[in-house]
Amino acid sequence: MHQLAVGDRVEISEPRNHFRLLPAPSYLFIAGGIGITPLMPMMQAATSAGADWKLAYGGRRRESIAFGECLHATYGDRVALYPQDECGLLDVEGLLSGLVPGSLVYTCGPEPLLNAVESVGEKLAPGTVHVERFAAKEIDEPVRTEGFTVWLAKSELALTVPPDRSILEVVTAAGIEVSTSCEDGICGTCETRVLAGTPDHRDSVLDEAEKEANDAMMICVSRACGDRLELDL
Ligand code: FES
Repeated sequence: MHQLAVGDRVEISEPRNHFRLLPAPSYLFIAGGIGITPLMPMMQAATSAGADWKLAYGGRRRESIAFGECLHATYGDRVALYPQDECGLLDVEGLLSGLVPGSLVYTCGPEPLLNAVESVGEKLAPGTVHVERFAAKEIDEPVRTEGFTVWLAKSELALTVPPDRSILEVVTAAGIEVSTSCEDGICGTCETRVLAGTPDHRDSVLDEAEKEANDAMMICVSRACGDRLELDL
């Protein structure tokens, strides 16, 4: 954007939101630092919907917690600020242990905080924890070290994906147009419907419940668990 001049034409896509506030009777919002940004409109929406909610908001020092005082003034005791120099790191285990059944958790912030919320959240009902990342999370080795075949149902094309290339690269090289942006598994632009087979989900977009549904995948980073996938391309 810094290189644009007045009058330049740019191609844009519609906004994509993989961090939607789903309806629930209550919410726990957990923010670390600038991770408060996507949670602020959620708090407004939850308030308008009459839902019960709480915010646990950590930052390095009280005076560096952006919007801290203003959130506290607006929402009162629903907002709990945790300056690290006074309280240490957020007690994720403690926060999640008091969760009312049916509540949803939304979190955004530094990677160690998100990893902690995801890891403690594994004990909760699937679909409870929703995470927004600024950067792709570290990924393990793929489930399958060999190549595999993708069958593109609309194009009626079978393609081989070797171990050193992504599905996106192979599909694009075959002349099939796919929208992409980050190519790092974080933006959700290349999300593709899965018609058959089991994806090896390696993205930072889908939550655990969405991954288990096995009906969509990010083809820029995700691969196949078996020798064949069928995609809606
Ligand atoms: Fe961003 Fe695939 S292009 S997730």
